Amino acid sequence: MYRTHTCGELRLADKGAKTTLAGWVQTVRKFGAITFVDLRDRYGITQLLFGEELNKQLEENPPGREFVLQAAGTVNERSNKNPNIPTGDIEILVSSFTILSKSSVPPFTIQDDTDGGDDLRMKYRYLDLRRNEVKKNLELRYAVNRAARSYLHGQNFIEVETPYLIKSTPEGARDFVVPSRMNPGQFYALPQSPQTFKQLLMISGYDRYYQIVKCFRDEDLRADRQPEFTQIDCEMAFVEQEDVLNMFEGMVKHIFKEVKGIEYNEAVPRMTWEDAMWNYGNDKPDIRFDMKVTNLVFSKQMFPNKSTVLPEEMFAIPPWGGGGAEAVLAIAVPGCADYTRKQTDELTEWVKRPQIGMKGLVFIKCNTGGSYKSSVDKFYSEDKLKTIAEAAGTKAGDLVLILAGPEERTRKAISELRLEMAERLDLRKKDEFKPVWVLDFPLFEYDEEGNRWVARHHPFTAPKPSQIETMISNNPAIENTAEYVKHPYANIKANAYDMVLNGNEIGGGSIRIYQRELQEKMFAALGMDKEEQQHKFGFLLGAFEYGAPPHGGIAFGFDRLCAILGGSESIRDFIAFPKNNAVRDMMLDAPSTIDEKQLEELQIKLDLRG
Ligand code: AMO
Repeated sequence: MYRTHTCGELRLADKGAKTTLAGWVQTVRKFGAITFVDLRDRYGITQLLFGEELNKQLEENPPGREFVLQAAGTVNERSNKNPNIPTGDIEILVSSFTILSKSSVPPFTIQDDTDGGDDLRMKYRYLDLRRNEVKKNLELRYAVNRAARSYLHGQNFIEVETPYLIKSTPEGARDFVVPSRMNPGQFYALPQSPQTFKQLLMISGYDRYYQIVKCFRDEDLRADRQPEFTQIDCEMAFVEQEDVLNMFEGMVKHIFKEVKGIEYNEAVPRMTWEDAMWNYGNDKPDIRFDMKVTNLVFSKQMFPNKSTVLPEEMFAIPPWGGGGAEAVLAIAVPGCADYTRKQTDELTEWVKRPQIGMKGLVFIKCNTGGSYKSSVDKFYSEDKLKTIAEAAGTKAGDLVLILAGPEERTRKAISELRLEMAERLDLRKKDEFKPVWVLDFPLFEYDEEGNRWVARHHPFTAPKPSQIETMISNNPAIENTAEYVKHPYANIKANAYDMVLNGNEIGGGSIRIYQRELQEKMFAALGMDKEEQQHKFGFLLGAFEYGAPPHGGIAFGFDRLCAILGGSESIRDFIAFPKNNAVRDMMLDAPSTIDEKQLEELQIKLDLRG
């Protein structure tokens, strides 16, 4: 037997017990004739004490960092207790030991605050995974996995695996493709999600399906994206949107409780896509804090039903681009009226960074004494500044930040600025979890370059029932590109929903189209002729002819959910073997070239253009 206990197990109550431990050497400390070794395994660290009688053996076989050591001995009460670790009251008086495996000097120190840079840690990920920080993340991931499964199992869901070698599924990214040796010149695509399979399973009668499944998307990486990631993918038959929302907010609440011990008993708030864009500048609002956007000037095309809080003419003067700005948007930052010149200058530089892309920043300080100071004093009397500040919902002591420019960019910029200010004010608490449903997304987006409609979610998403008629009876062609917003399709809303947690989209889904005619209309609207529809989705259109039940579902980004629950926005730390930002596996050194022989078998000749 290699061990009788783990390195996290023994306590003072075990005093006098015989034990054998096995693990990795964390540290070796020599004090005169005696040697202390901290031995680590998955469960913790236990101190070993080697007495004088073992010195000769230690000299012959000195254990070093990360050696794998087996030690037998007796549990002893420590004279110098360590209150920071659960085993800190005891140590093992070692009677014999064996080095099971030696270790080279590791390229970085295996401890919480390691000296290893990112690339080094990724190259030696198997060592990085020994660190407590990373281990905690994987344990949390497993806890989320268990909680999701137990909830779904309890609700009568069945897990069904679907294939990885398939034909393209359009989720908006590029496919990873795999050549087929048996079918020269032909390729499989790796699934961007199991979307069409889960719909087919509904048609097969498995009315509650889930799968914790890998998805593959060849897209530009960000902190919250990996080329292969995991979804908790779900689908239900005979449901309306309300049923899906209730079922899955139930799952999220169950996960909160099981994993974080959080009782979240109220209903998850709901917000329309339009209100999210209007109040927060984006469709994944962080509602842990308020700081809503005030729409001083905005695009009437985007928000035909909204009106300005102040007359638009007030902003038709130079600081706002001489009246040319499509959007003038403000946030009131609490308690920052005392920002210094240096701080406002620095914020101005911040919004001018290419990622944010603004020409400048206007601010109004609402001083606690009741006066108003701004960067546009030249153009506005104090009275007018007060009017603007009040319209932005300020209190004394607040700092109003105002951005102006093209609608889309400005809205995105104000939402980034809102998050940045909240970060600076420490309003984005890592241990606070505020989910929100975002509903009523537009069904289509207009692609200006291609002058065509694209599906905002994916092409299997159903329009709101009341708008099916609009979709069927209108021609999707866009005659006048400048006026595409007036096309009836621009106003069709989808029966689609996203779950947003702390400003991150953690899940998205929809009620699906289940009628052949409507699905064909959808494909046609996206510019697919009959032949292409048949070639790409003949199987699905055909299946709709054999009794397709109404159905809908959702997929959660499992890695993202874990990262947020773990207080991080970087999903890499929650994946055992992730890719780096250049989409490379640093440890395997993949992707890599393949043998000439493999290429030959596949009948592929490389022609690397440019
Ligand atoms: P969607 O494309 O919105 O929907 O994906 C669902 C969720 O998966 C997560 N996600 C990602 N996580 C990490 N890396 C990525 N590259 C990545 N891309 C997406 C997000 C997202 O909310 N088939 C539909 C679901 C449905 O309609 O039921 C789908 O895949 O958290």
